[in-house]
Amino acid sequence: MNSKLVLLAVGVVAALVLVIGRQGGVVAPQSTSVSPQMSAAAPVAAPIAFPQATNVAMAVEPMAAAGGAVAAMESPLPNFVPRNLKVFEGHWQGMDGRLMTEELARKLNYPRGVQGVLLGEVTLNAAFSGLLGGDVVVRIDDTPVTNMEDFQAASRNVANRSEARISVIRKDNRPGAPVLRKLTVVLRAAEGGLGFAQLEGAPMILPGDPRPHGYRGACTDCHPVGQGFELSPDPDLISLPPPAITRDAVTRGVSSHEVRGPCEACHVIN
Ligand code: HEC
Ligand code: HEC
Repeated sequence: MNSKLVLLAVGVVAALVLVIGRQGGVVAPQSTSVSPQMSAAAPVAAPIAFPQATNVAMAVEPMAAAGGAVAAMESPLPNFVPRNLKVFEGHWQGMDGRLMTEELARKLNYPRGVQGVLLGEVTLNAAFSGLLGGDVVVRIDDTPVTNMEDFQAASRNVANRSEARISVIRKDNRPGAPVLRKLTVVLRAAEGGLGFAQLEGAPMILPGDPRPHGYRGACTDCHPVGQGFELSPDPDLISLPPPAITRDAVTRGVSSHEVRGPCEACHVIN
């Protein structure tokens, strides 16, 4: 064996020792933070420890959450945001509406040919006016509405007014064939005018995402492709690990929630 080979062998061994040593160093703190309760119990956690603690309870880290994200990480692509995205959702005075399509009409059992903006959710002034989820907006004052662009344009026409007539098609859900009726309500703004509708595109997708809906055309007609446009998981679905509670709270049965089972199943008890 010549001296070069010996040196090489020594170098490889040294590198291995380094790598193993490092991995050990990384693994150790993680394995001690397996119990989320333990970290949560610490009076003031160091800022860096917080995401680690919550990760145990649920995947807050988008990278680890979805299989598609892992693939995206392996071959990083720049985010792709098409200039001319089709809009599909609009918001105005408490209305949350989306384009009524043939596909939606079929899924929701509306007769074919209904065009307008389907209200998915109604709150605030829209709710006070008498609108309901499932109503299809077909006219704002004198302007017909057949798509999202119309919806925005028609709302612009009344933006500075304090009230406007909204005509909708409402489906009667009583047994029997679906019956449509048209009705008109008056939408009122408390102050400052009605303003106009804001539009939104479809959510961002990852390069490898399967489509959950029927074929609608080229993905990039409607979706930006990339990461960071959407908070994942949905903020409404984030749950934090249950905090540590006192023995006293357990004996007195002090709970901030409905019965879920024996306290020790979920809480560290001090
Ligand atoms: C004409 C517009 C349009 C086209 C084209 C389209 N989508 Fe969508 N997609 C939507 C809309 C709108 C949604 C929102 C929910 C729904 O309507 O099902 C959506 C939802 C999704 C979602 C769920 C995203 C989330 O965060 O909830 C994925 C994934 C998706 N589409 C993938 C695809 C893929 C892949 C293609 C191409 C093969 C594609 N879409 C083509 C409009 C479109
Ligand atoms: C199945 C799991 C589970 C069980 C069993 C359970 N809890 Fe909880 N508890 C939670 C979670 C999760 C939270 C965090 C807030 C929430 O989700 O309501 C919580 C929050 C609390 C809080 C509020 C603490 C704070 O600092 O905000 C108290 C007090 C509490 N629980 C008491 C109890 C008691 C007493 C029992 C037994 C009688 C019990 N819990 C059983 C899951 C549980």
